[in-house]
Amino acid sequence: MIRSAVSTDLTTIQDIEIAAGAVFRDIGMDAVADDPPFTLEELTEYLRTECVWVAVDAHDTPVAYALVALVDGAAHIEQVSVHPGHARRRLGALLLDEISAWAAERGLSALTLTTFADVPWNAPYYERLGFRPIQERDLTPGLFRIREAEARHGLTAWPRVTMTRPVTGPLGAVEPARQPG
Ligand SMILES: CC(C)(COP(=O)(O)OP(=O)(O)OC[C@H]1O[C@@H](n2cnc3c(N)ncnc32)[C@H](O)[C@@H]1OP(=O)(O)O)[C@@H](O)C(=O)NCCC(=O)NCCS
Repeated sequence: MIRSAVSTDLTTIQDIEIAAGAVFRDIGMDAVADDPPFTLEELTEYLRTECVWVAVDAHDTPVAYALVALVDGAAHIEQVSVHPGHARRRLGALLLDEISAWAAERGLSALTLTTFADVPWNAPYYERLGFRPIQERDLTPGLFRIREAEARHGLTAWPRVTMTRPVTGPLGAVEPARQPG
């Protein structure tokens, strides 16, 4: 189940982030694995704007989470992390669909994110979920600033890409075809 996060979830969210990041060590990206999670203060600020979702297990304990910020009129996905013990069960895709439905309710037209171009569970994964690269020259000012901040943080040691997926409306909102007559 996906639900909005509450303040008592925040330390679990930090644990998920550390556990999910460890997989980067397997491909020699130790600096990414070692990057500390969002602080409790930062997560509390995201909660204030109601932009944190968790996927929970049968005990209502978060096993995955996603954070969103509004950037230039789009729902920008700051982070999606799934605990490795619950990976590859479509929780990442479910969180993205939840965010898309939320964005549709607010009249936002796109989801955006930045990610590693060559990591199999990053850009290629998002591409399979319908995201497409945004060319550098087409970055909006907010996205450009995010990419600059990532460069200062050392993330550009590996190729980065900015991606977007249109928000097509609430899930299941596809109009049925009209019957003639
Ligand atoms: C990326 C992530 C959020 C995907 O979550 P998930 O719930 O496991 O993803 P889904 O079940 O929706 O999709 C699974 C697909 O992701 C890809 N994938 C996930 N883990 C992978 C891995 N270790 N190696 C290669 N591909 C992987 C595969 O395409 C997989 O499909 P498959 O199971 O049919 O092979 C999760 O792997 C994660 O938290 N990774 C570490 C943190 C991270 O990189 N976050 C994204 C930062 S932009």
